[in-house]
Amino acid sequence: MAEADPSSFASPGCCRTHHLHLRCRVDFASRSLRGTAALTVRAERDSLRRLVLDTKDLTIHKVVVNKQDAQFVLGERHSFKGAPLEITLPFELGKGQDVVVEITFETSPRSSALQWFTPEQTSGKRHPFLFSQCQATHCRAVLPCQDTPSVKLTYYAEISVPNELVALMSAKRDGDLPDPEESTRKIYRFIQNVPIPCYLIALVVGALESREIGPRTLVWAEKELVDKSAHEFSETEAMLKIAEDLAGPYVWGQYDLLVLPPSFPYGGMENPCLTFVTPTLLAGDRSLSNVIAHEISHSWTGNLVTNKTWEHFWLNEGHTVYLERRIGGRLFGEQFRHFQAQGGWRELQNTINTLGSTNPVTHLIPNLKEVDPDVAYSSVPYEKGSALLLYLEQLLGGPDVFIGFLRAYIQQFAYKSIDTEDWKNFLYSYFKDKVDLLNKVDWNAWMNTPGMPPVKPTYDSTLSNACVALSQRWVKVS
Ligand code: BES
Ligand code: ZN
Repeated sequence: MAEADPSSFASPGCCRTHHLHLRCRVDFASRSLRGTAALTVRAERDSLRRLVLDTKDLTIHKVVVNKQDAQFVLGERHSFKGAPLEITLPFELGKGQDVVVEITFETSPRSSALQWFTPEQTSGKRHPFLFSQCQATHCRAVLPCQDTPSVKLTYYAEISVPNELVALMSAKRDGDLPDPEESTRKIYRFIQNVPIPCYLIALVVGALESREIGPRTLVWAEKELVDKSAHEFSETEAMLKIAEDLAGPYVWGQYDLLVLPPSFPYGGMENPCLTFVTPTLLAGDRSLSNVIAHEISHSWTGNLVTNKTWEHFWLNEGHTVYLERRIGGRLFGEQFRHFQAQGGWRELQNTINTLGSTNPVTHLIPNLKEVDPDVAYSSVPYEKGSALLLYLEQLLGGPDVFIGFLRAYIQQFAYKSIDTEDWKNFLYSYFKDKVDLLNKVDWNAWMNTPGMPPVKPTYDSTLSNACVALSQRWVKVS
């Protein structure tokens, strides 16, 4: 029996969404998206009569199931989970049967997923701007959906925006055309043919321009920042090639970058086909390019192999940090990889000092029952997770051996959502000749204990020693 997702009201055991057709109008005056989300839903059991979707601050105008009007009730709002939308199907569904559930909805100006900007808040000062951030549980504040990473769907979208603006999504661009209903508007179309968890649905609307920086990469930004961005992110194609060599083929076609306004709340976000990044990466010297290596790595760990619930978030971030540093290692040397990893261990120590070594959110696998994933968020899944992987690399035979495991893991679980038990079972089956070594791992201490890990990986300190020596020379002359 699969465990439920504590962060969602949806029951993927009853039915699963396979496809979304989104049609919506972006209205800057009312700060809302209004339109329809048509979900193709498949029954997972017999005699299905009812389904529950996640919503957060949405107004639901109408629900139509296979062209027939359907009854619906919006439940009471939970503090961070939002409100369940319970839909009664006009007929019973048998296991394996599909229906199209079309919901007419409108977002709130306070949607926790959407940031709306006035023209004055942009670089160009002439046009408004909008971007979304759905991870972890905010897709439900954009559209009604089964907002759990255990469900994967393809999508097609048609987005109406004012003529002078550009819309982009986490998908392939499928052209634009005049909006037949309003001559001052255009409709941008998008197609995502690879099934994704809904937290990877993303939208941006603004006066965006682009420059080509590689055979599969455009960098998008407001005009004022495109050239600086093109220079900063020029290593992208080299990183993509290394990532493919390490992890397997890149299945998403395009890898574009979007530079957002400064209030973008993360360093980067791995939206498929279009990574979102903060403009604070524009240092001028490419010194923050590890963030790009990180988001590129999510194209395999996270976007192909996905955590089943946010309790297993370390599967996304730990593997991604590990891959990010393998890319850095190829570009700048193994010593550099160890320098970065050692910095990560220090970061983990700082975080655990701050949160407290008995704090339950310092578990590799925290319990998120009634805990907001945004509140549990810290460097622990990143750094405890990647430290575990580096420790296993060193235990099981080194970088070449371990990348074989990682590639096989990705192949095994691509297009699926998994939990830590799936990961561990695969680890034991891949290293079936090294079970004696694996049994030396104190799994309980790594996985089910707060605070620092039970063992520290071995770090090559050549570069960090050089830093310390230089800092001591500075101290002496002052
Ligand atoms: N997917 C994350 C950002 C995220 C995590 C958003 C959880 C919402 C909820 C992204 O890949 C990430 O990890 N970004 C890091 C950068 C990285 C180099 C560690 C960040 O923004 O700090
Ligand atoms: Zn990440």
